[in-house]
Amino acid sequence: MSSVEDEELRRRKLEEALEVKSLRRIISAYLNYPEAAEEDIRRYERCFRRLPLAHKALLSHLPLKFQRLRWCISQNSYFIFEMLKAFEPPLDMSADVDISEDQTMENASDRHCLSGEMNIGSCQSGSKTEEVHLEKADECCSGRGCNGAYGSPKPEIVTEEKKIEPLNKNAGNCLIGSDCNGEVEKADASGFQSVKNSPPLSSTLDCDGHVSSSSPDWLDPSLQFHVPLVDVDKVRCIIRNIVRDWAAEGQRERDECYKPILEELERLFPNRSRERPPACLVPGAGLGRLALEISSLGFISQGNEFSYYMMICSSFILNHSQVAEEWTIYPWIHSNCNSVSDEDQLRPVSIPDIHPASAGITEGFSMCGGDFVEVYNDPSQVGAWDAVVTCFFIDTAHNVVEYIEIISRILKDGGVWINFGPLLYHFADMYNQEDEMSIELSLEDVKRVASHYGFEIEKESTVATTYTTNPRSMMQNRYYAAFWTMRKKPHAASEHLS
Ligand SMILES: C[S@@+](CC[C@H](N)C(=O)[O-])C[C@H]1O[C@@H](n2cnc3c(N)ncnc32)[C@H](O)[C@@H]1O
Repeated sequence: MSSVEDEELRRRKLEEALEVKSLRRIISAYLNYPEAAEEDIRRYERCFRRLPLAHKALLSHLPLKFQRLRWCISQNSYFIFEMLKAFEPPLDMSADVDISEDQTMENASDRHCLSGEMNIGSCQSGSKTEEVHLEKADECCSGRGCNGAYGSPKPEIVTEEKKIEPLNKNAGNCLIGSDCNGEVEKADASGFQSVKNSPPLSSTLDCDGHVSSSSPDWLDPSLQFHVPLVDVDKVRCIIRNIVRDWAAEGQRERDECYKPILEELERLFPNRSRERPPACLVPGAGLGRLALEISSLGFISQGNEFSYYMMICSSFILNHSQVAEEWTIYPWIHSNCNSVSDEDQLRPVSIPDIHPASAGITEGFSMCGGDFVEVYNDPSQVGAWDAVVTCFFIDTAHNVVEYIEIISRILKDGGVWINFGPLLYHFADMYNQEDEMSIELSLEDVKRVASHYGFEIEKESTVATTYTTNPRSMMQNRYYAAFWTMRKKPHAASEHLS
């Protein structure tokens, strides 16, 4: 083997080890959830104990509330653990991840966290993509921060399994998800330690408090890490995202954000052919609900998502839900602020509100893991899509111009771009990370850039909405989202994209 090949092999191995480490960290964040939540309750209890007796007497219900919170945490943990058990890691989790911190730090910014896809169906698109496919059961059985079949009685989702290879060799910064303020954290490869030999961090308990058996090897406690609390916050954000996408309580947000998009797609594609359905891409698909709804409308729909936090959860809901309202979670327990009552804070939410496999999806529905820029820059993607739908997505860009350029390139001539969302640039105001690329344009500039890449505005409005907001909270942050339909002029690619 030549020294160049040798070096390439070494680089690939290191990248894979980093990917494994990154995925372990995300899995550990999920597993750290119960312990971190318990730590919060211990803090509430410490504060309660410090109260004068007279004040304690006034608040004598609080110890019971703390116990109830513990029970809610155990229910959330049970859901999380079942979700993790169903996850099939796209990487060999036993791969040696004994990389030095120097190597990790040096390379963390050169790679991407998410490689691959889940098993809803199959990615017919770019060569780099790996996917998740949900197939019609009757045919073939198949945060922003806190700001993701059919007819037969018991449809089954076929999980087409693939070995997932890293998608993003030499990709940009490693992003591991959005936090509750819509910010995306850059992976810090340090800051978590192995907790070898400690008992399972979490939820090997089932809902009755029994130890759960049949956990996969890669969930072995010896492979878990203590992660920084900021990682566990991402898990809490995912729980809120579940409400947005997969609970009846999220219906109002979905009606505000997804419904106008779906109505627009229906208007723009009135005569959808069942034999050759139009193809629609949803970059930054989150937990997959919008992509699923688009599929149910009669489109070949593909969600693209690069956060493993999101992909683990969307795969579980899309591929493993047996019935509607199968799970009960307590999404609002983690904040004592702005509650009208304890009952509001402790209220259960049933998920999913629908059975995804019975939603009447169109064949070809898939979730494609990876960075939008990396995956859809592939030459195979040029002119591949009839529609691109971005919902709360374009402001996740390091360079929004690049996103627009790619959207234009992958659309067919005459194809449409429907966008819905604010411009809360995720990489803006990243203190202490001065080298973080972030191009932050006004709405006017975004539209001007779109026009340069051959887009003509057909419709435009502003829609007030929230994002993963507790509908009963005394605080409701509101976005005034830009909602537009732009059409790619014929021959835009040759005029502008050379
Ligand atoms: C604010 S969330 C919106 C999710 C969903 N569209 C919704 O409306 O609920 C943005 C999503 O885009 C994903 N994302 C951010 N940058 C991405 C990229 N470069 N490629 C693919 N997905 C990305 C994030 O992980 C997150 O799930």
